[in-house]
Amino acid sequence: MRHVIVIRNKTTVQQVTALENGQTNPLTEKPYSEHYRKLLEQRRKLPVHFKRGEFLEMYHKYQVIILSSDTGFGKTTQIPQFVFWDEYQSKLKIACTQPRRLAAKSAATRVAKEMDVALGQQVGYKFRFESMQVESETQLVYMTDGKLLVDAMMDRTFSKYCCIIVDEAHERTVPTDILLALLKDAVQLRSDLKVIIMSATLDTSKLQTYFSSPHKAPVYHIQGEAYHVDEFYIRGPAQSESSLNQGEIIQGESSSYLEDSVRIVEHIQAHREPGHILVFMPGESDVEQACEKIRIKCQDMLVLPLYSALSSEHQERVFASTSKQKCVVATNIAETSLTIDGIVYVIDCGLAKEMVYNPRARLRILQTAPISQASANQRKGRAGRTRPGICFRLYTQDMFNQLQPCTTPAIARAELKSAVLQVQRAGSFDVWAFDWLDKPAPEALLRAIEELKDMGFLDQHAKITAQGRQAAESPIDPIWYHTILKGITYGCAMEMIAIAALSSTQNSIFVRPFEYRYAADIIGRPQFAHPFSDHITLLNAYSAWSQLAKNVDKASWCEAHGLSDRILREVGSIHRQLRFSFTSLLNKGDLQPAKFSDPAFVTNIRKALAAGLFFQSAIRIKGEDRYKTVPQNFEALLSPESALVGAQHEWIVFTEFKMSAKQYLTTCTRVEPEWIMDLPYFAENRMLKGRDGRVKQEYVQQSFARVREALEDELRAKDSTIEE
Ligand code: CDP
Ligand code: MG
Repeated sequence: MRHVIVIRNKTTVQQVTALENGQTNPLTEKPYSEHYRKLLEQRRKLPVHFKRGEFLEMYHKYQVIILSSDTGFGKTTQIPQFVFWDEYQSKLKIACTQPRRLAAKSAATRVAKEMDVALGQQVGYKFRFESMQVESETQLVYMTDGKLLVDAMMDRTFSKYCCIIVDEAHERTVPTDILLALLKDAVQLRSDLKVIIMSATLDTSKLQTYFSSPHKAPVYHIQGEAYHVDEFYIRGPAQSESSLNQGEIIQGESSSYLEDSVRIVEHIQAHREPGHILVFMPGESDVEQACEKIRIKCQDMLVLPLYSALSSEHQERVFASTSKQKCVVATNIAETSLTIDGIVYVIDCGLAKEMVYNPRARLRILQTAPISQASANQRKGRAGRTRPGICFRLYTQDMFNQLQPCTTPAIARAELKSAVLQVQRAGSFDVWAFDWLDKPAPEALLRAIEELKDMGFLDQHAKITAQGRQAAESPIDPIWYHTILKGITYGCAMEMIAIAALSSTQNSIFVRPFEYRYAADIIGRPQFAHPFSDHITLLNAYSAWSQLAKNVDKASWCEAHGLSDRILREVGSIHRQLRFSFTSLLNKGDLQPAKFSDPAFVTNIRKALAAGLFFQSAIRIKGEDRYKTVPQNFEALLSPESALVGAQHEWIVFTEFKMSAKQYLTTCTRVEPEWIMDLPYFAENRMLKGRDGRVKQEYVQQSFARVREALEDELRAKDSTIEE
């Protein structure tokens, strides 16, 4: 620090260049490494680098800057470093937010190397349940937008920060939108706070209008050399290579996007100049299937999947350099947030998986939908970074023209309980009057408020309650916070915290490698299955794992039991953190795990799940294997891996409603009607009128008594057969 002579908010390109060219790293006081110099050379070729002077001038002059450029130009990795040196003396932090955890981690790792420091010292990252930074020291922190939002709720002026960089703003996630609103406020309160909003699309006028006071935020677009990318619109199977060469629309019978992409990869390998290929698929299972098929058809090719649920080691592989032709098959994670070098060919299926909330059905539905034109152009732009490229679109030009110009912001289609709580926790009492960049759907907002009232997180006047404030600050979804509170009531707090942790990871603890998926279903789950509850099945597996003796090799044990040691360790870490965050709410007795041998053990957990997840319940259609959600009457099957399949339980609660070819309820637990019928939601619910009321009445008449009779005996019998 002593010999760093950059003056805050006055640095010039000459000063920082001299600093970066020096012998000694002022941050570590050690000589710069060879690798550092190699990276420096690469960095200085990035388009963003050539605009460093202009950027700094602008940064010195304005409080809010909107910056856009194509992907791969150096926004995420370079701009925060420009700011780092400019703010070096401020001793305040710089946050750079990312919608995805993986992107935050990957950017921090890269930037630490570029700055020649250890990750977690001057540069770090943090997101929910994981961090690599020192709170008092790390000056540049890559974090998820959600994580910064949780900090910001309790610190509206962002007092620890000198600059907030909102990256990938074009993705318009819900946390990004709320953050932007809070930042809009904060810049009025703190004249020394700087905000940079970075976007990969040019459409920034809405942001500019939004940030129009105290001064109109300037928009700075960084242009650079981009090579021409030819487009081919493919309808049906490719017929001949000559038609591809002429750039004609290829006609043919309709076939699936999966087969089409495999065929085009084959075509590229056989007939085109060597160059890496990037294939966009809607979801993980398409990615895995495509990889499997391409590996068979195109030997000699390095075929790599990329999606957010993969382990970071697997994800890193796509960046490694190779002499082979590389084919990366990815979800839309590769659209803007990650740049893979050397991509010449892009194959775009035109679809993406998105989570859509239907407030009337009260269901979050994961569905496959057409992407927007903006997304399609982003995907196309992944080719042509280093030389002219080609983009194969598996749809017609007409279809392209009919796509929406821009992706709908998530706030317009999201479930809003967390958002409402966060906005309220941040001090805005009226979510209707909140300064949203785009207003959320009124029905979704209304539904969120109702449900938060039902959970006791908002009072009758829709003001946040003390419990609601705690729920907002908690790292888990309000619905799980609520379920843990019920766990305390039913004497199974520890178990419910574990179940909440098990439900908060992206991946299941049960391994299901695509190639061995059926075998995995046999060796994994059934060993731990509880006939009444998938939640308890998860808990059984987790408990077995965490109680393993010290001398047992956990990795091989997991392999033999169809479990993922990595995900279980992640669950373990989340579990510890959640337990810690609940300490103040728990008294000594709660901290004791419930007794497994207690006949009420399972019943209590099921009661707590019923009381916590009652919004997500379904009853079985008489004489069938299908269920209907209550009280909205949406039909769905039990997810095939559920331990409840075939058991004909009458009433269940579920964790998720999934829609693919069929509609499925995942992670279910049998509940007893009398546990939830008394809840205000069912007893006096405004929705249980008319048709819905009939469902309730019919149900009560037909099955209530029947189920109840058989119930207690059956339960006792089942509970006592569970091994300790
Ligand atoms: O944010 P933007 O898309 O504008 O670019 P970036 O993520 O900062 O990436 C700039 C360049 O850094 C990329 O083109 C990659 O060559 C390189 N990079 C990398 O090699 N590894 C990373 N984890 C991130 C970036
Ligand atoms: Mg970026």
